[in-house]
Amino acid sequence: MSAVIFHVLTLFPEMVIQGLSPSVIGRAWEKKIISLNAVDIRDYTTDRHRKVDDYPYGGGAGMLMQAQPVYDAHRAVTGGRKVRTIYVTPQGTPFTQAKARELANEDELVFLCGHYEGIDERVLEEIVTDYISIGDYVLTGGELPAMVMIDAIARLIPGVLGNDISAEEESFYNDLLEYPQYSRPEEWREKRVPEVLLSGDHKKVMQWRLEQARQRTAERRPDLYERYQEKQLLIRKLGRHKRNNIHLMESLERGCAEVLYSETEPAHWAEEACAETGNRIEAGKHTAEKSHTAAEKHSMKEQNSAEISILLYDRSCKTCMALAANTASGKIIAEKLPEDTEMVIVSESFLRELLIKRGYKVLGSYSQMLYTRKETLSVKHKEIRPLTMEHFPYVCCWYCSDDKCNPGIDDVYVRERIQAGAMYGAFMEGRQVGFVGIHSEGSLGMLFVEEAFRRQGIAASLEAYAVNRMLERGWTPYGHISVGNIASEKLQEKLGFYKAEKTFWWMEKTLANST
Ligand code: ADE
Repeated sequence: MSAVIFHVLTLFPEMVIQGLSPSVIGRAWEKKIISLNAVDIRDYTTDRHRKVDDYPYGGGAGMLMQAQPVYDAHRAVTGGRKVRTIYVTPQGTPFTQAKARELANEDELVFLCGHYEGIDERVLEEIVTDYISIGDYVLTGGELPAMVMIDAIARLIPGVLGNDISAEEESFYNDLLEYPQYSRPEEWREKRVPEVLLSGDHKKVMQWRLEQARQRTAERRPDLYERYQEKQLLIRKLGRHKRNNIHLMESLERGCAEVLYSETEPAHWAEEACAETGNRIEAGKHTAEKSHTAAEKHSMKEQNSAEISILLYDRSCKTCMALAANTASGKIIAEKLPEDTEMVIVSESFLRELLIKRGYKVLGSYSQMLYTRKETLSVKHKEIRPLTMEHFPYVCCWYCSDDKCNPGIDDVYVRERIQAGAMYGAFMEGRQVGFVGIHSEGSLGMLFVEEAFRRQGIAASLEAYAVNRMLERGWTPYGHISVGNIASEKLQEKLGFYKAEKTFWWMEKTLANST
């Protein structure tokens, strides 16, 4: 994968380059993780005097940037390809962390910076895909807003913040404002650092920080706090069936997912479903008549088991997670899947069938395993450490070439996971013999140990190591194992994992979406 390119069309290219070069972003540019291309719109004017502005038709104060130089500068950058083009303007939609995450997925972005009183509408209609504002105030030009957005987007690109899961990790507190922080000395102007932070008790520190973040958000941003509370309520409801719902709970808890749909009072739907099928469904059981087929009975049981319907979308990996209490909500979920969804995880067969009708195909069926204890696991094999790009060829060689394992996972994905600091390797006297990883949607997986080094506890150590990293971040480790992979299930059970009752299907969008 080549560097993510940020093109900035501007009248002040040096301002953009000088503004971003000395920072973390500049270092990422040097390391070729990103690339900055500031393009002087003036270089593209056909005017003899290098003029790029003129008076607005209809009169009014100030000058407008003309269509031709902007259009030609854009053509020069894109060569006519479709590239997401952002016009930074106070008339745009507000820039948010969610937007930054969405844009961090693109390989290439163009920012168009206006000056004077704006830009001729006709060229905007031709080239702009997104109108974005950084706030309800007016600046003299678009350079500062473009730099703000580039900074916020680039820091989410794996590798930019250094080799750890910092950007993913911070999302644990994503829906809340940050807690207060303290550094040395322990006492300054008679103010002491809160005792708990000196205690060395990691769990207590985490609890204190969460509580501080909550209080601060409630005081300073009641709007955010209300959203946070709604999410917490959903998490509690999902927690009634934790084994089946851990993927949804973790995605919400870690702040990775947006809730696109939720319905938490589906009791009446269950009744409707009963009425439709002529059955009575009572608290967790149904009394099916003999005439119903096994598939119908299974579907009715499924319809009664989920008390909640929910659709989550993780923009950073274009993955949806869905849970439907009945066919009616399943249909709503299928309707609401975002256009750019690439993968969907479902656990009801009727939802799976609805998605197949919409052009999704089943990639595989999986058992969901979760580790609910808080204690870290002992790692017997000592040579385990986070992987760096130096290990990329090894992982690719073993992971991407085996067509049995995880379809859809390729070298681009492996590179991204390594750069995110989410892959760990096992070594024997310095030679790599295996690896494990944390997937972009949050599950534990990608376990591999070379044949010659199996049955020595290396796989268990790799999993234990990854579990410990997840626990450190306050996550509940969970993973998906292909149905029938008894060896992996046994391994995880030995480590203390439990298995969900449901089967989970990973579904991928096919090119030919039928409806
Ligand atoms: N250009 C001028 N003011 C702006 C703002 N608030 N956001 C984005 N672009 C701008």
